[in-house]
Amino acid sequence: MNDTPAQTADAPDTAAPGSYFQHHVFFCLNKRENGEACCADHNADAMFAYCKEQAKQQGLAGPGKVRINKAGCLDRCSAGPVAVVYPEAVWYTYVDQADIDEIIESHLKNGKVVQRLLVPPEAGR
Ligand code: FES
Repeated sequence: MNDTPAQTADAPDTAAPGSYFQHHVFFCLNKRENGEACCADHNADAMFAYCKEQAKQQGLAGPGKVRINKAGCLDRCSAGPVAVVYPEAVWYTYVDQADIDEIIESHLKNGKVVQRLLVPPEAGR
């Protein structure tokens, strides 16, 4: 019996039919040289590498599971550093490895959003 709720436009199902990855995570690694806010100034490269390595080490990486990707500016620089998890479109900010660990454990493994790390809805560039 399939007890997965039907997917709707308002409430995307994390196990979206046809989705190649269960969770696809994009880390903004954008670097600006003009002094404007950018995620690269907030340890984004190191936290991306850490998240990717942790996903691999914990057996989460691969088709049907998790993919961690680099991204350019995601246009939410004022809340940087940012990463977004699809298909849920949940936006996170983070400071250190403990925050990445919590996103992995809570969201990527158990499907529970980490409320304390959410980007404020109004945060833009
Ligand atoms: S520089 Fe990271 S969201 Fe724009």
